[in-house]
Amino acid sequence: MASKEEKIDLILRPFRYDNDTLQDILGRLHKEMEKGLKKETNPDATVKMLATYVRAVPDGTESGDFLALDLGGSNFRVLHVHIEKGAKDVRLQSDSYAIPESIMTGSGEQLFDYIADCMAKFLEKIGMKEKKMALGFTFSFPCKQRGLDCASLIKWTKGFSAAGVEGEDVVRLLRDAIKRRGDFDTDVVAVVNDTVGTMMACGLADHDCLIGLIVGTGSNACYMEKLDNVEIWEGERGEPNQVVVNMEWGAFGEDGALDDLRTPYDREIDEHSINRGQQIYEKMISGMYMGELVRLVLLEMTKQMLVFGGRTSTDLETRGTFQTKYVSEIEEEPIGDKNPTMKILHSLGLKHATETDCETVKEVCRAVSTRAAHLVSAGISAIVNKMGRERVAVGVDGSVYKYHPHFKELMTQTIDKLTHCDVKLMLSEDGSGKGAALVTAVACRLAGKS
Ligand code: GLC
Repeated sequence: MASKEEKIDLILRPFRYDNDTLQDILGRLHKEMEKGLKKETNPDATVKMLATYVRAVPDGTESGDFLALDLGGSNFRVLHVHIEKGAKDVRLQSDSYAIPESIMTGSGEQLFDYIADCMAKFLEKIGMKEKKMALGFTFSFPCKQRGLDCASLIKWTKGFSAAGVEGEDVVRLLRDAIKRRGDFDTDVVAVVNDTVGTMMACGLADHDCLIGLIVGTGSNACYMEKLDNVEIWEGERGEPNQVVVNMEWGAFGEDGALDDLRTPYDREIDEHSINRGQQIYEKMISGMYMGELVRLVLLEMTKQMLVFGGRTSTDLETRGTFQTKYVSEIEEEPIGDKNPTMKILHSLGLKHATETDCETVKEVCRAVSTRAAHLVSAGISAIVNKMGRERVAVGVDGSVYKYHPHFKELMTQTIDKLTHCDVKLMLSEDGSGKGAALVTAVACRLAGKS
């Protein structure tokens, strides 16, 4: 008979990757990247490698007042960004508005009316309703771009499903909503993915920042690619001979490429998601699913009498109760001090949890979050190796990366093992919104508008 420890280990083992497995994942993603970049193979590629129209990073001569919108998670933000020539950072003020689930999953018109409504409130508050500013829109979903200010939504991801938006140009929907109100005006100049915004924001402080990464509600990366490698590019081919590619790596695995690595818990998460069969890599990594993965593993362990004396609670049996932020809180806990874990377990109705249970819960959290860090690192290493540079910086944002106590360290160690490049991870505070303003500022500079 296997001991309790052996049984726990058996459940957690599929979450633990050795170096060879990580190299293997890196190789599989590299193949998908090539497939996505080539015209002929792109239609069948899961990782779409979407060309953005961002081809230049800030050079420090940009300046002015800009508006930025940030839509992509459970909060929507409006920002006023002031950029001064030569500064390493920008000044900003912003407000955050929760997006009710009814709006996320209602109609597109409702969603964009809500966005315009929040904008009006914000402009009123900062006393700038009369000033027409250039605007950068961070819209963190896969889009087919036909210009810097033209992006049609390919498909919703994360918790969104607002009707009538897929296939439409989101800049037009935004402009229409603003027009419908008629009480303020803006000049929508650019639409960018959050990965691109994050990369641009960090680019101000480090010109080697040529990769952007998000590990938050969702996960995705972008990087600066040589135009010659981007067969799918439909824009003009003059200088600069480069373009930022939004990989949309969350979709990696949709063709079964990761099936041998998926656990029964990953499959269950997918089964109950609103986008079944989609965003497979993202579902193994990001904050929208991490807490739920831990809950499912704990439920299985309870069934096998390995934790909580075999007794569950209503909460533990309810989807979505184990929040991803608990994973960070539990792992943060200093050794020997079990109180935070105990408190969380009590709040989930597990009053009968013992100190040993707390240890097991922590082990589960560690297995799930470490796997996420390993998967992200394999992804970043695939990009880094493809770029073939000696040094590169990665602008990173997202709640998982920001709040998890060991994520950065784990990533640094893993990337170090998987590449020969000097890779610097830079946390980007407010990156996605700030970056949209910077892209707008660069566009205005190039157009001679500022
Ligand atoms: C999802 C979106 C992607 C975004 C990522 C992080 O994967 O499809 O566009 O960058 O979430 O927010």
